[in-house]
Amino acid sequence: MSSVDIPREQWATRIGFIFAAVGSAVGLGNIWRFPFQVGQEGGAGFLLIYLLFIVVIGFPAMLVEFVVGRYTERNPVGALKQVGSGIWEYVGWIFIATGFVILSYYSVVAGWTIRYTILGLQDGYIADAAEAEAQFVSLASGLEAILLHAVFMAAVIAIVAVGIERGIELAVKVMVPAIILITIGLAIYAATLEGAGEAYSYYLSPEWGTIAANWQSIVPAAAGQAFFTLSLGMGVMITYASYLGENRNLAEDGAIIIGFDTAIAFITGLIVFPILFTAGVDPADPGAGAIFVSLAAAFGDLTLGWLIGAVFFGTVAIAALSSAISLMEVVVSYIIDERGVSRPTAAVGIGGGMFLLGIPSAYDLVLLDLFDLFADQILLVLGGLLLMILVGWSLSELAVEELQRGIGDLGSLASAWIWAVRIPVILVLLVALTLGILDYYEFLTGPFAEWIGEQ
Ligand code: PFF
Repeated sequence: MSSVDIPREQWATRIGFIFAAVGSAVGLGNIWRFPFQVGQEGGAGFLLIYLLFIVVIGFPAMLVEFVVGRYTERNPVGALKQVGSGIWEYVGWIFIATGFVILSYYSVVAGWTIRYTILGLQDGYIADAAEAEAQFVSLASGLEAILLHAVFMAAVIAIVAVGIERGIELAVKVMVPAIILITIGLAIYAATLEGAGEAYSYYLSPEWGTIAANWQSIVPAAAGQAFFTLSLGMGVMITYASYLGENRNLAEDGAIIIGFDTAIAFITGLIVFPILFTAGVDPADPGAGAIFVSLAAAFGDLTLGWLIGAVFFGTVAIAALSSAISLMEVVVSYIIDERGVSRPTAAVGIGGGMFLLGIPSAYDLVLLDLFDLFADQILLVLGGLLLMILVGWSLSELAVEELQRGIGDLGSLASAWIWAVRIPVILVLLVALTLGILDYYEFLTGPFAEWIGEQ
């Protein structure tokens, strides 16, 4: 088998692995999705439930992906073949499919962030909301969108083609500190705005009445966001942990990674809400183009908004890049491990395929939704759920043993972890999957059917 003959790459340093995982976790999910989920779900109440789920759902689930990756030292397909039997062997394929679909349109959205960086530097942003929306619609689809999608994908291919140590590890060591510093800088700037006080109380003081009235929508949204933002259910953490050679303390690494991701999402709220409140924009105004419409319009309203906006969108583009490389690595590692193809060839082939699959998303926003909803709400949750069932219920001994390598005896903490996976994690994913399927059905029979009718 070719998979055994090829020497496997490894991270050169502990910090390299941590930065790579933080780079994967911090992405459009933190900077684009998070603030608008908060806005849509009514502010501080959502934030509170989200933080709770990060600890109760996200942390145990991340450790599951880590132990599977480090134990098998394989890509998700190879890993699941090794630890699962019967139909469980095929769960790895769901991760590959999820990665392939998500990156195809994530790259299109990342292309928009490049466009909006250039827009700020060249012409500045439009303050009028209706005009800003019209501008977004014209930039989001069409030839230019396809071109920027190609530029972004080429950058991802270039980094992944070079390899783990000299490609991904080197790139994230530059990108991640830059993202952290710029986000903190922008939050300090936002604190000086006149709408800051009002924004903070909206963002930070939960109203129990709002939580009680809306918990049915807050709970699944917060759970989905917790999973997405930590790059779970995509095979990323399995793949990245498979390049860990030594017996490291995975719980400590996981806690550091989650700490960074949560801090960046939280700080993004401290940037976005003061800007929106100062410009008089309603934070409950959501939609796929949210940061490109309401936030861009708010930048159009601020003194030096063009510069702040360009720095903001530039940072989002970098964050998207450090996430995208992790997702391409999932698929590329499969091709290298199982098919014996060289890394550069695998990166170019896979990247080319993802680019082609992304073209429909860059052609029409409805098609982007078609891919996004399917990958985010169904594939991702399904892959995550099956892995948690397998590890939580039939591989728990192996999992605990692997986690204890590098930590020592965990005592009752080990069973607390396994039971967290067995009950709350699985339950929440089941609910999220059910709601996701219903939502997708509504989309297919509603907006998508309408769109087909218009063609
Ligand atoms: N954790 C990432 C984020 O919050 O954006 C999720 C992700 C999406 C990772 C798409 C990689 C990717 F290509």
